[in-house]
Order: sequence, then C-alpha cells, then structure tokens
Amino acid sequence: MIREVLRMGDPRLLRKALPVERFGTPGLLALLGDLRDTMTHLDGAGLAAPQIGVNLRVVIFGVHANPRYPQAEEVPDTVLINPRIEPLSGEINEDWEGCLSVPGMRGWVPRFSSVRYAGFDEGGAKFERSVQGFHARVVQHECDHLDGILYPMRLRDLSRFGFIEALFPGEDLPPED
Ligand code: NI
Repeated sequence: MIREVLRMGDPRLLRKALPVERFGTPGLLALLGDLRDTMTHLDGAGLAAPQIGVNLRVVIFGVHANPRYPQAEEVPDTVLINPRIEPLSGEINEDWEGCLSVPGMRGWVPRFSSVRYAGFDEGGAKFERSVQGFHARVVQHECDHLDGILYPMRLRDLSRFGFIEALFPGEDLPPED
C-alpha cells in the first residue's frame, strides 16, 4: 500500500528508531511491502520506515539503469534491517542529495566515500557489504533517517541548498532518497 511520506518538520522524523526484534513476521513483511510500493510510486532511490511514520530500524533502497540518467550508478535492491555502518577510511566526498521527506530540494552533502555495512534481511539472515561511491552515499542517507537525521542537518555550505528548479534550470535529475 502506498503510504504518505512525512515531510521535514514532522517530529516523527527526528526520533531514534527501535530495532526489529522478530523477523519474517506478517507485520514486518507488510511494512516492507508498503515501503516498496511507496518508493516505487515516488520513483525514489531509497526509503526508511520512519519516513512513513513507523519507528523501526528498517530501510530499503535500490537504483537501476535508467536511460534518463546514464551517469547514475546502479545499487542492488536491498532490504536492510538493524544496520550498522562503519567508514572504511576517513575520505569524504560531496555530492548532491535529495530526500522524499524534503521534496523539490537538493543539497550538497559530505559523506564517507566508502563504508562497510552489516544488517539483516527480512528473514533475519545477516549480511555484510563493503561499498563506495553512490551506493555508500545512499546507505548513509537512509541509515541517518533511523537516527532522526535529515540530509539538511549534514550540510556544510547552505549556499548549495535550494529548490531543484532554481539550482538546475531545465535539467532532468535522478531520483530522490
Ligand atoms: Ni531521505
């Protein structure tokens, strides 16, 4: 079911989400279905449970080849529950980000260039990946939602934050997180 995405300013986006304790339950599978339906409907790159008002440590993400955005790096469809992230080096890279909870805007956000993340899938199987670039950026963005952090809180240069049409007149941009 397509759910309403909460927008920045809603206090529910600022909570620290709680760990999932039981996997494979009907409630968890229904939540994942709603996250997928909502993300697909809005053409997003990722979505975190708190964005639809569910205070659990659950995120999904995935980006596929799209002729409209030939430069976008692909990210596999992933369900990530109770994640832990650690940077693989101190290297930082900056790039534009958007968020379905901050619609119509983009900001220039510093993130670790490469990270290792670990967590569980919907059935409770543990997995771990080391990633870099856009994949690393998407994971950091989504997991921030679980700690009540929205990307505008990460901006170092507010002169590079604004409305998409004003920042990139006439351009067709990749999906938001
Ligand atoms: Ni977001």
